[in-house]
Parts: sequence; C-alpha cells; structure tokens
Amino acid sequence: MKQDMIVILDLGSSENTRLAREIRALGVYSEIYPHDITKAELAALPNVKGVILCGGEHRVVDGVEIDVLPEIYDTGLPFMAIDHTKAKCDLQLEAWPDETQLKAFVFDTCKAQANWNMENFIADQVELLRRQIGDRKVLLALSGGVDSSVVAALLIKAIGKQLTCVHVNHGLMRKGESESVIEVFKNQMDANLIYVDASERFLDKLSGVADPEQKRKIIGAEFIRVFEEEARKLEGIDFLAQGTIYPDIVESGTKTAKVVKSHHNVGGLPDDLQFELVEPLKQLFKDEVRACGAALGLPHGMVYRQPFPGPGLGVRCLGAITRERLEAVRESDAILREEFANAGLDKTVWQYFTIVPDFKSVGVKDNARCFEYPVILRAVNTIDAMTATIEDIPWPVLHKITDRILKEVKNVNRVCYDLTPKPCGTIEWE
Ligand code: XMP
Repeated sequence: MKQDMIVILDLGSSENTRLAREIRALGVYSEIYPHDITKAELAALPNVKGVILCGGEHRVVDGVEIDVLPEIYDTGLPFMAIDHTKAKCDLQLEAWPDETQLKAFVFDTCKAQANWNMENFIADQVELLRRQIGDRKVLLALSGGVDSSVVAALLIKAIGKQLTCVHVNHGLMRKGESESVIEVFKNQMDANLIYVDASERFLDKLSGVADPEQKRKIIGAEFIRVFEEEARKLEGIDFLAQGTIYPDIVESGTKTAKVVKSHHNVGGLPDDLQFELVEPLKQLFKDEVRACGAALGLPHGMVYRQPFPGPGLGVRCLGAITRERLEAVRESDAILREEFANAGLDKTVWQYFTIVPDFKSVGVKDNARCFEYPVILRAVNTIDAMTATIEDIPWPVLHKITDRILKEVKNVNRVCYDLTPKPCGTIEWE
C-alpha cells in the first residue's frame, strides 16, 4: 500500500467525516473506525501513522459513556483527542483543531507523508482488486451514474474482460444516456458489456399506474428481475461489484450514531444468487469518486453528471406514464441541459430538469386552438438535497429554452418555471 493513514476513532462526534475530509485535504489518507477497535485490529491496518479520538455529543450511549479500549494506547502510535478529557494522549484539544494544529499533529508528531492522491489510490486498488479476484469473474450493474461508471473503469483497468457489465435500459433514461454508456464502455474501453433494452417491459408494467410510490416500487422490482435474469444466463460469476461510497457506509450507522439510512445499491437479489461483494470506492467521498473517474479517463460529462434518480424520467412524467408525455419530458430535458451547458449553468447549478404533468391547457398554435401539455422547468441548488434553493436563471436563457421547447417538442404548448424552494416543495415533483 502506498499511502500513510491517520485513523479517526468515532466517539460519538457528528463531525467525524469533516475531520476525515480535512485530513485528506492535507494530502494524507484518513479513515473512521468504531471507538472499540482492538489493539490487534488497529495494528493490522496498513501504514497507520497516528490516531485521533473524536468525541462529541453522542458519547453517552444508552446511559453509558463510551470510551476506547485502554490497550490501544500500547500500540506506540501518537494519539490526539478532541473534547475527550480522560484520554491518554500526546495532544488534547478542547476545540476543533485549526489547520495549523492539524498539520502539526499529522506531519510533525505522526510524521505522515502527504502521499494520498488519485494515482496512488488507483494503483493500490488495482493491486487489491487483482489480489481479491484472482482469475475469477465479476458482475456489475452499470447504470451510467457516476459511481457505477467509476467502478466499471477501475475494474476494467484491474481485471479487463473478467468483468461483465450489465446495462439495463428501463426506457426512463435521459436522451442519449444509454448510447453514451455503450460508446464509452463498449467502444472505447472494450468492456464486456451486455446491453438490455427493457423499455417495453417497463412501460407495460407501469401502464395505468399513477401513484408515485407504486411507480418507484415497480421500477425497482422490475430492475432487479431483469438484472437477475441476465445474471442467471452467465456462468462462473463469483463477485458482484457495487458503487458503494464512503458516505453510504458512514451514514448506514456507526456504533454511536443512529442509522440514517441503509444502502443497497442492488438490493433484493434472491438468496440463491450468492456473490461476494467488490466495493472499490467504499473509502471515497463523492468528489474523490469524480477525481478518480477523471484520472481513469472517463469523459467529463459522465464524471460530473448531475444527480439523477433511480426511477429516472418515470417520476418526472407525472401520474400514469404515457409514451407521448415521456417523449416530451425526454426532449425538453435534453433542450434544458443543452442550453444550461451553453450558458455555463451546468457548472453552477446542482440539479436541473423538466417535468410534464398529466393535464392539458388551452393554447394557440398556427392560428388554431390547441389543447396540449405544459413543461415545467426546475433548477435547484443544495448541499445535501435535504433543503434546496432556487437558482436565478438569467431571463434570456429562460426565453431561449422556452422558445426551443415550444418549437421542438411535440404535444407541448406552455412552459413554466418552478420557483418553489425545499421545503416546502421537494426537488422532484413525485
Ligand atoms: P426530493 O424530491 O426528495 O429529492 O427532494 C432529493 C434528491 O433525491 C433524488 N431522488 C431520488 N433518487 N431514487 C433516487 O435514486 C428516488 O426514488 C429518488 N427520488 C428523489 C432527487 O433527484 C434529488 O436529487
């Protein structure tokens, strides 16, 4: 392994990930472990140069104050503690460390090297993946999202054709997206890629279904069914690769924090399809995943792709999905994306898309009355998607988008801009 590591022990602080990020920002790798790690477990971790006890508001769990095991102080490693008065540490801090204090501990006390970078990460992962997988075979559900795309690129580098990617087009993808998955992975990277066009099958299942949660359930269940069918056709697969990233692991619950959410990227696969998991991004934050993808040569548009919900355009074609409205969502979304890119807004706006509701309004086209659908534009900024603000889009850009949608998209005679922040509107309409 090429990189030195600072271990953070979770003593109930909600700021553990912030600390890990601050240390990684210094160019030193850092990981968070439970407070009750044993001396043997700590000693078995590669290249540990120092330990930070990060105490906080959740130090009392079920009425008992948690602490580290005293034996870990015998490892001989340098220790630092934040807000933890009983610790036997080289350095005790009452308040959050500033950059100078953190640097002094990491570089002067621990003598860590600033050798955490993407080239070293990729080289380490390639070696680890080859060691874990040997000459066996791996399966990956490649959605075209950032995480699964980066996993695919990393595995292609490590094991080439021992990886089989399955891309399921559920018919609810954005314009050109499945095509770009095929272009990048099959044509450019020469991956083993199975492309399944399941559009008709999904649309059949969704026919007449108007309830958003029901739509989500059908899309999720059908996705697993299609993927499972493909997996059963393949022989000799031992591993399933997943795009799990570090926040998924941290948020799935440490010993002190309550479970925020549990993550199953390809959840619900039947028990008789048993795979060992390969999760090469599980130590990375989202921006590091993007940097990794860029270092592996994935196109900018794929690496910096805006968030896109699993159920895809299915939750933006409101109510019961019809082909004509789905087409209107897809075409208007493509225009919005193109014009945002032309105006440079794709670099500043977190998420932007269009919605087509299931009602019509009266309009006039070519001197005749028409009765057609509206398109709603949405553009939001957010840090964590829990709350969101509305982006100020310059009027000329809105006019241009409106003109193009009215001219180029069939069955549409009106364009609206949604000004609702979250709360009280959610980001998606369904
Ligand atoms: P809301 O609409 O809840 O969206 O404010 C917050 C963020 O989550 C995305 N989203 C989803 N992502 N499956 C997903 O993978 C879903 O069912 C889903 N619903 C919403 C949404 O696009 C936004 O980024």
